[in-house]
Amino acid sequence: MTPPLADLARRHGTPLYVYDLDAIGARAQQVTDQLGGTARRLFYACKANAHRAVLARVAAAGFGVEAASPGEAALALDCDVPADQVLLSATNARPRDLAAALERGLSVTLGAISDIRRVGALAPGREVLLRINPGVGDGSHPHVVTGGPHSKFGIPLEELAAAVDAAAAAGLVVRGLHAHIGSGIAEPTALLASARRLLEAAAGMPGVRVLDLGGGFAIPYRDGDREFDVAAYAGGLETLLAEFEARLPVRPELWFEPGRFVVGPAGYLVAEVMCRKESGGLTFIGLDTGMNHLLRPALYGAYHRIVNLSAPQALLESVEVVGNLCETTDVFASDRPIPRPEEGHLLAFLDVGAYGYSMASRYNLWPLPKEVALSGGREQT
Ligand code: LLP
Repeated sequence: MTPPLADLARRHGTPLYVYDLDAIGARAQQVTDQLGGTARRLFYACKANAHRAVLARVAAAGFGVEAASPGEAALALDCDVPADQVLLSATNARPRDLAAALERGLSVTLGAISDIRRVGALAPGREVLLRINPGVGDGSHPHVVTGGPHSKFGIPLEELAAAVDAAAAAGLVVRGLHAHIGSGIAEPTALLASARRLLEAAAGMPGVRVLDLGGGFAIPYRDGDREFDVAAYAGGLETLLAEFEARLPVRPELWFEPGRFVVGPAGYLVAEVMCRKESGGLTFIGLDTGMNHLLRPALYGAYHRIVNLSAPQALLESVEVVGNLCETTDVFASDRPIPRPEEGHLLAFLDVGAYGYSMASRYNLWPLPKEVALSGGREQT
């Protein structure tokens, strides 16, 4: 059931992000059930949405947290996620941040030989995961593909032997291999190809007990889009594990790091129409928000459904929905049929629970939007 977005916007003002915690809890349960089995661990990629109540709800569903920065790790700890359930994926990490993470007992995933050397110097004997670039990538847009040729992420497979040597020389124990090959992945094919490469690598590494397969599961954004088939992916992984059984000393524990899939559909951004304007044969609908608050359309050409909360039954009109910033690319939708938006109407963007507020900025010195999280129809603080 959609939250009472117009009421909330009237009460809190616009622009306003609204999160449905019950929907988030249900999706966390869905992904847990579909991945099945006991030898699984789930980590919520909190870069998708780091609202405290959201993080707490996903953690309550049994997830650990994948943190991309010291800030995200600190938030997870502050929300009472136990340190050994927080997984820091270090990218260009500063030594002081690695030191702090190790001291607090977080798990770390290292994606470069320089990180291996640093962690070895700080905490010899520690168990670590190595992030691999398995040579395959996938995603909804080239900007969100994080594996394959020319990717900055992870240790290329050709370098893995050198990385393992560096880990041994630094006194580290390589407990697992990790790959996250992209985001908004519609079909399991590339993820399974990546898992196969990790299994092949693990077959030559007797100490490896964990394969962290990252996140990346797509959600529907347009009417008719299909959701990533988590159950089919899990089935494909079972088949792969069976194939590798004889070649691995132990059946590896599988870890996953979904972000978007858990929270994306459960978030809304409500904005008010400030301006209607005809220009060059186009009708511009100017909102009191902009790409500073929802960057995905400008950055990836991403599509978000837009509903007119004030006049859902009005005749459809094809319009340009634009933001209030001094940027030409500050466009949310072009030639989009929407029930005729008038000044003062409230519009809602759907499926913005992931990578909405978490990518917001204060460009043009607009304040960040407010956020409200609901559970059982009640606002949480
Ligand atoms: N694990 C790692 C190491 C990651 O870098 C990411 C996302 C995830 C897990 C979670 O991926 P998910 O399940 O949410 O696809 N801003 C872009 C998405 C960038 C994703 C970055 N890394 C967007 O708005 O589409």
